[in-house]
Parts: sequence; structure tokens; C-alpha cells
Amino acid sequence: MAEAYNRGLDLQKAGDLEGAEKAYRHALTLDPVDTGGVSIRLAAMGVQDAPEKMPDAYVATLFDQHADVFDDILVDELGYCVPLLVRDLIRRLEIGPFTRLLDLGCGTGLTGMALADCTVHRTGLDLSERIVELAYDRQVYEDLYVGEAVEFLQEFEEEDGSQPSWDLITATDVFPYLGAVEPFLAGADGRLRTGGCLAFSTETLPEETLKGRPYMVGAKNRFAQGDVYIRTALDAAGFEILAMEPIVVRLEENEPVPGHLVMARRR
Ligand SMILES: C[S@@+](CC[C@H](N)C(=O)[O-])C[C@H]1O[C@@H](n2cnc3c(N)ncnc32)[C@H](O)[C@@H]1O
Repeated sequence: MAEAYNRGLDLQKAGDLEGAEKAYRHALTLDPVDTGGVSIRLAAMGVQDAPEKMPDAYVATLFDQHADVFDDILVDELGYCVPLLVRDLIRRLEIGPFTRLLDLGCGTGLTGMALADCTVHRTGLDLSERIVELAYDRQVYEDLYVGEAVEFLQEFEEEDGSQPSWDLITATDVFPYLGAVEPFLAGADGRLRTGGCLAFSTETLPEETLKGRPYMVGAKNRFAQGDVYIRTALDAAGFEILAMEPIVVRLEENEPVPGHLVMARRR
């Protein structure tokens, strides 16, 4: 599998897209759970439709591999500060404090830390085991789980069989790994108390690139969602938008990555 995948990477870098596609498709037959994220690369190359989400095995491996340098690279080098933007938005909207926070795709715990003084009990969840270990070391979450966000929203039960709810759910810099947002929003709607809030960030692309598509895999192999798509999906899932602001998510090759910061309230 690694051989076929690496051959695909080399051919793609060398500009032989046909050869790269062949090698990637071969890698996919050898590794159907798609640990290498080949389906995402094929979509970014424009030779296959975007999948509805990133393969779980790919996301878990990607973040396991980068967990130990995550904060240094993302925050210090690439200027990532979405967790602090969420905190600032909560203050500006004069909402909160919140009793129970569910931080989905919690990473190393940056959002848990940023919201520590406006939440009482914090639950974190992430697909990457290594990143959850680092979040654990931060001691910012009362409860921490390794798992997939939508599955957690749909299925999680406490040991006594009860199904807990939250009054704030966050997903900072997680939508670039989700693609289609409907399953996530339906799950969040099911877990939020009435009047509870959902905060998340997206990456986006100009309409000339999206060309009417709700979401697509961008050149950097992450999902970008369109503004209208997010608004429509939130409305259909029963959310009122309190704020939807354009932001710079981080730098990439010294260029700002555009996105949105959203705060929505369950009707
Ligand atoms: C760019 S990091 C952001 C981490 C953190 N929210 C922050 O703002 O620092 C994205 C995180 O989302 C996690 N993730 C992506 N898709 C996920 C999914 N479907 N379920 C759970 N975690 C997911 C990744 O493992 C990774 O830790």
C-alpha cells in the first residue's frame, strides 16, 4: 500500500496526473479504509467526486503523526487562533457562561483552555488517540474520549444508559475534515439543550472555485464549505445564526486561509 501511495505522491509532484491517479487507485484497492487519504487526493485532483467526509483512518493517522508538533506549528508558526476567536465572540454576543461544553475534534485542548473560564464542565472528543493523550495532560477536560464526532453525537450514552446533553458544542477547525455538514448538525441538534449554542469554524473558497458546489476538496486536500450552504444547512437543522463572520483561519505557505466563524443557537 505504502509503495503505491508513495508512487502516486511522486508522480503527482512530477506533474504526471494520469500516472498518479492510477497509483492512488491501486493504493485504495490495497487499503480500503483509506489510511492514506487517497480518496481526498483524487477529489483534490478533480478526477473523483468529493467523498462526504474524510476517512476516519486517515484523520486519526494524520493527527497521531503530527500531534507532538501540533501546537508549535499551528499556533506559533501558522498563527492559528480560532479558539480565542470563539472566546471573543462569546463575549461580544454576551452569551454564556455555559454549564456543559462538548468540544468535538478537541485536538490538544486549545478550545477547552480558551473557554475554561466561561464553562463549568468540559467534555473533549477526538479521533486521534495521541492527540487525546496530549489533551489529557492539559487537564482541561473532565471527560475525554477517542471517537468520531458524528457517531458520538448519535450514540453516546453514560454508563447508566442516560443520554447526556450540552449547552455549548464547539468544533474549531474540524469542518475542513467533515465535508457534508448535515449529519454533524443533526447530531448537534439532538445533543443541545433548547437555546444551547454551537460554535464552529470553516474553511471556504470563492464562488468562482466552488462553482455552485456546497463543499469541495481544495488544493490543500481539506474541505471548504460555501457560505450559503452553511447558512441553509443550519436553518434546516433548526439553528438560528447569531454570528457568521469571515476569518483568517491560519497561514498556509504565507497566504491567509479564509474561513468563517459561526455561532448558532438551537431554536
Ligand atoms: C486542526 S485540528 C483542530 C483541533 C482543535 N479543535 C483546535 O482548535 O485546536 C482538527 C482535529 O479534529 C479531529 N477530527 C477531525 N475529524 C474528526 C471527526 N470526524 N471526529 C472526531 N475528531 C475529528 C482531528 O483528529 C484533529 O485533532
